[in-house]
Amino acid sequence: MSSVRIAVVADIHHGADHMTKLGSAALPLLAEFRRFVADARPDAVIDLGDRISDSNRDTDLVLAREVAEAFRPMNVPRFHICGNHDRDHMEVADNEGLLGQSLGNTTLDIGGWRLVLWRADSRIRRPARDGMHGFVLAEADLLWLAGVVRQADRPLAIMSHVPVSGHAQTGNYYFERNPHLSTYPGAERVRAVLRMARVPVVCIAGHVHWNTLTVVDGIPHLTLQSLTESFTTHPGPSAAWALLELDDAIAWQVFGNDPFVQRLDAASTLRRWVPPLAPFHQPVERA
Ligand SMILES: [Fe+2]
Repeated sequence: MSSVRIAVVADIHHGADHMTKLGSAALPLLAEFRRFVADARPDAVIDLGDRISDSNRDTDLVLAREVAEAFRPMNVPRFHICGNHDRDHMEVADNEGLLGQSLGNTTLDIGGWRLVLWRADSRIRRPARDGMHGFVLAEADLLWLAGVVRQADRPLAIMSHVPVSGHAQTGNYYFERNPHLSTYPGAERVRAVLRMARVPVVCIAGHVHWNTLTVVDGIPHLTLQSLTESFTTHPGPSAAWALLELDDAIAWQVFGNDPFVQRLDAASTLRRWVPPLAPFHQPVERA
């Protein structure tokens, strides 16, 4: 199988420094990422969203334009996904105009793999504006992914802003005490869709600002540390980006100050695990 190499960056958060997000370092770090891409010459570059830290619509449009300009010199096919901060005061169409590409769900075959850009709705609803708080998993986004999984005739690398593994947030600066905002309500339905896969699958997401690998029912879910996050590398930024290499193996290497390396056999992601046991206090049928 011919191998695919993809450079990935997440949660750039260009803008003012805010809590542990060092947004003022975003553009210099993006310049470093650009040099990495020029040297590594990957088949594609993927930005997993949260390109800016939001403040108001006028400021956000300026910040988003500056990030788009930082990507433009990269001489490699590049694909963007919107994060929640790209949607607080901007529409998907605003981001499409600035980045010069459509930001709907789509797939792209590279080498022997299918890249799945699952650009599911990533706007966080706010109580004052929306009467509720949190992400909404749109039925159309779930059904689109189900169709891709059902029809897959080659391995899938599924990219999204919001992770769907349901992994624990213990120790996470943002989400230990806000776990409901770390994923979609109903993310277990996405995992049920992924379980239908009859081809190797790897899922890659941003949003949670840390490096993790969570394997659920044989399927690996990776999250990538934010480029400008500092809670794991305090007081400096992580300066993290990743190179994903896909062939018969799934190789993931995060560079920068928060390094993280994983290597998995793609065929092992086809195994489905024995379904988890009922709660221990429930009576068990004995043979
Ligand atoms: Fe973020």
